[in-house]
Amino acid sequence: MSNGLSQRSARISAPGTSSMRSKANALRDAGIKVINFAAGELSSDAAPDMRQGAIAAVHEQWNRYTPPLGNPRLRQALASSVSQRLGVDYDADEIAVSSGAKQALFNSAMVLLDPGDEVIIPRPYWETFPTQVELTGARPVFVNTKGDNHSLRGAAVKAAVSPRSKAIIINTPNNPTGVVYDPRELVAIGELALKHKLWVIFDECYRSLLRDGQQHHNLVALLPELKASTIIIDSFSKSQAVTGWRLGYACAPKAVITAMHNLQAHTTSNPSSLAQYAALNALHGDGARQFGAEVNAQLDRQLAIATALLGKLESIRFSPPQGAFYLYLDITRLLGKRYQGEAIRDASHLCELLLTEARIALVPGCSNGDPCAVRLSYSVSPQDLEEGLSRFTDFIATLA
Ligand SMILES: Cc1ncc(COP(=O)(O)O)c(C=O)c1O
Repeated sequence: MSNGLSQRSARISAPGTSSMRSKANALRDAGIKVINFAAGELSSDAAPDMRQGAIAAVHEQWNRYTPPLGNPRLRQALASSVSQRLGVDYDADEIAVSSGAKQALFNSAMVLLDPGDEVIIPRPYWETFPTQVELTGARPVFVNTKGDNHSLRGAAVKAAVSPRSKAIIINTPNNPTGVVYDPRELVAIGELALKHKLWVIFDECYRSLLRDGQQHHNLVALLPELKASTIIIDSFSKSQAVTGWRLGYACAPKAVITAMHNLQAHTTSNPSSLAQYAALNALHGDGARQFGAEVNAQLDRQLAIATALLGKLESIRFSPPQGAFYLYLDITRLLGKRYQGEAIRDASHLCELLLTEARIALVPGCSNGDPCAVRLSYSVSPQDLEEGLSRFTDFIATLA
């Protein structure tokens, strides 16, 4: 490359979410009130057990390195809680604690994939999935979910399998669509994975964030034979509102965990000791469940406000989300409409205008492989939700 950087670095583009965040922050620093619907995190404070645990960790001087894959007590506690939740036994040496789920996902890609391998990824996707795959020299193969109301169907996955297929990435509840995958389809996909000897990377980071009446299904719980070829990815970030603390984990066969150990030991070493201690505290009592119930009740209320307001807009289409805290809005009908004479080209263009003209930040679907949609997080304060959506509505009314 002419700039002296590696070819690999050219394959990494800036994430859509963080570039939106920096633009919104720059406006804020200039004293302009921006309403941020672009954040991938809960707006509430951290869960009480996490906060108390972190404070206790400081007092108890948890300042030193831990083993790279985490404190053995935490790995054991996670193994017990996962085993209980799934009804499938996991040992502590099948758990790797990481600096956020993002690291667990990157470790998974690094230890599983070789150049030329193919990885099946549903589209629209969380943009980190294909980027991490490409960094290993493997190739993402996308399965479009738009025609299936953003649900992932076994038949669509089947059509994407080739002799080079090595793995499939499944994320439910889904970022960016908010869809929770159907258990029958998950079983069909799991059976395909068994038949074609595919690894499954099963990202359930939003599993505790479910809209009223919805249920999350873990693939290994549905099909325990898959345990030997599945990496389950989970995080404390979203469920406990501690995105900044960086704590996630992977559950996988021992050989995978050992390879992750070697990789992580040479890259970041252990995740934050304070966050680990806090997580151990949160895993003991019933606080995490209570926190989840409060957060979900709040999100249900927020979603009701948002859907009532957005439902009045004829130019926007969306399905009611089932999990996480995202509304995924189809903006196809807005494309080609004009703002002050200028035609709207795609979701990125619309999001630029919404930020500069209406002072609201949303994530353009272009970063999720979909130029005809935007992602809106309804995890903002009730006042911001109403004000931001009325700015959105007013802006759309100006389009000719
Ligand atoms: C689907 C999905 N997986 C993983 C992550 C990463 O979470 P963490 O903060 O634990 O790295 C995110 C973050 O937005 C996500 O949306």
